Amino acid sequence: MAAPVKLKPADAAAAGQPLLSVRNLTTQIATETGTVQAVRGISWDIYPGEILGIVGESGSGKSVSVSSLLKLHPSPPVTISGGPITFEGQNLLELSERRFRRIRGRQIAMIFQDPMTSFNPVKTIGNQISEAIRVHNRRISRRAARARAIELLGMVGVPRPMARYKQFPHEYSGGMRQRAMIAMAMANQPKLLIADEPTTALDVTIQAQVLEFLKLAQQETDAALILITHDLGLIAELADRVLVMYAGKIVESAPVRELFRNPRHPYTVSLLESLPRIDVETEHLATIPGSPPNLVYPPPGCAFHPRCFLSHQRERCRTEIPELVDLEVRGHTSACHFSHELDSESAPQEDDDGDTSAVTNGDGGTQHANTSADSEHGQEVDA
Ligand SMILES: Nc1ncnc2c1ncn2[C@@H]1O[C@H](COP(=O)(O)OP(=O)(O)O)[C@@H](O)[C@H]1O
Ligand code: SF4
Ligand SMILES: [Mg+2]
Repeated sequence: MAAPVKLKPADAAAAGQPLLSVRNLTTQIATETGTVQAVRGISWDIYPGEILGIVGESGSGKSVSVSSLLKLHPSPPVTISGGPITFEGQNLLELSERRFRRIRGRQIAMIFQDPMTSFNPVKTIGNQISEAIRVHNRRISRRAARARAIELLGMVGVPRPMARYKQFPHEYSGGMRQRAMIAMAMANQPKLLIADEPTTALDVTIQAQVLEFLKLAQQETDAALILITHDLGLIAELADRVLVMYAGKIVESAPVRELFRNPRHPYTVSLLESLPRIDVETEHLATIPGSPPNLVYPPPGCAFHPRCFLSHQRERCRTEIPELVDLEVRGHTSACHFSHELDSESAPQEDDDGDTSAVTNGDGGTQHANTSADSEHGQEVDA
């Protein structure tokens, strides 16, 4: 019999069932100053073998949305509602803690930003990886688990893995600890890896190495990967598909190339413009004016309106919450009342003088030609 054909993620998304499906997830956190509406009704899917990037500024709800999936809740009290969250046919929100433990760490594994807080400081790295293997498979002997842990450490580029097996977390550098964390996450061949800002705490050169091993781990285990980051550069390098989050909601989603080629939400446009570009010499970097909202009191209407370059004098932005709707390209969605104004596909052509002509749309607003030099998108500030 011929070997089954392995689908590429984009094809898999088109053809198959999601591995994990989240519907209308809402997470609120009670604090002394009020209830933080950290995640406000988000729905998304991830397909087997796919790398899904979740991007957004700090505080946009990226971490809370995945910790809600795994019910990893620190105090203060957290309330999760909505759902279902379907993983391989079961609603994670309805599972008992005992059944959940069989999934967490085994079928869904997490890689955190700071592995120092994930490893137990008084146990050796090797022992912790061995334990992670044996806790889900008691039939594996200690000796076999040790051999597998050493193999995993070697696989993620930890030099002299046999000697390193016996060392404690504080004896590892930040980059090595992050590699060991990836090894531990791979230990049980999970179906889904979740990496939350996996390289944010590391130096740039170390970041690149850790990312290489993360990619390798994903390929090795054939797992789907959720990559959470505030760094669009990382997304461009690794992800197949992207969700952009703002103020606890998904504001845009698209296959990665489509998102970079034709962003259709002002927030995404602003994020892209704040990316440093190696092909353009510039003394100043554009940043998004203002700051993310306090989620105890999210702004009415579109939460991005106080910072949006398209919202000027538009009542609708301040009063009506935009729904996430499908755009023309399959898999591309945007939650903006005026997303059509950003469509570079239908943007006016440059005339002979190099000027772009603005076109008036039906709403009485002006359609922006989405050129990267359009200085109306964002504010110039000192880098
Ligand atoms: N333990 C917590 N207690 C109170 N508020 C929290 C807690 N964790 C997160 N939040 C709030 O929830 C919102 C979303 O946070 P988070 O998911 O951590 O953002 P991101 O990961 O995108 O930076 C933010 O407003 C943040 O301040
Ligand atoms: S709905 Fe209005 S405020 Fe929100 S992103 Fe679109 S134009 Fe900007
Ligand atoms: Mg976070």
